[in-house]
Amino acid sequence: MINIKELYFSYPYGKKVFEGLNFSLKRGETVGLTGANGAGKTTLFHLIMGLLKPDAGEIEIFEKARKVERDFIEVRQRIGLVFQDSDDQLFCPTVEEDIAFGPLNLGKSQEETKAVVGEVCEKLGLKGFERKVTHRLSGGEKRLVALATIVAMNPECFLIDEPVAGLDDVTTDRFLRYLKEYGNTYIIITHDQEFLKSAVDKVYILKGSKIIPR
Ligand SMILES: Nc1ncnc2c1ncn2[C@@H]1O[C@H](COP(=O)(O)OP(=O)(O)O)[C@@H](O)[C@H]1O
Ligand SMILES: [Mg+2]
Repeated sequence: MINIKELYFSYPYGKKVFEGLNFSLKRGETVGLTGANGAGKTTLFHLIMGLLKPDAGEIEIFEKARKVERDFIEVRQRIGLVFQDSDDQLFCPTVEEDIAFGPLNLGKSQEETKAVVGEVCEKLGLKGFERKVTHRLSGGEKRLVALATIVAMNPECFLIDEPVAGLDDVTTDRFLRYLKEYGNTYIIITHDQEFLKSAVDKVYILKGSKIIPR
């Protein structure tokens, strides 16, 4: 599904983050990604989504080389990124507007979207949250809403950036339950080893431009 070959990336005026990174993910794989702060985990997700562009190397997604902005439009429709900071994900006044944003953007009608929002809220235990003001929710509630905005787009793959940092056990369990129910292929960045044990099949470490099995 995702094939990365000899990827080079550095931020403008920043240090080199990747110098020849290789990584691949197959359909149906559930993977944990760990590594020190600043190793480049979030950067890797942003490169996969086309939010950043590499200096060199190849990114192949869904059997197609992805180079220019136009190539990534399809990627962003089929792969869902749950941001490290929920406030980057949620920008509408209310929960239902945030969840509706993706389906509307994918070309669904108002009516279809309304049905999707209802269904997703039901699935993710967010019934009664539809009209709530997003920025007033607790950190854990925002996490679930952020996941809901992605589930609403029914992606083939989820990229999830530190989902459980700061969540209590009950919310963590809920997050995990929903993810396993609605996600078939995903990569989760986390330092939480306990969470990884129940969430993924394999764990990789990102260190010095290499992704190696733990
Ligand atoms: N927008 C940016 N501009 C410059 N440097 C950045 C930017 N974002 C991240 N970095 C740097 O790139 C490196 C990788 O960051 P990041 O991908 O966020 O790491 P991780 O998610 O593994 O903690 C770090 O050294 C970080 O300081
Ligand atoms: Mg990060």
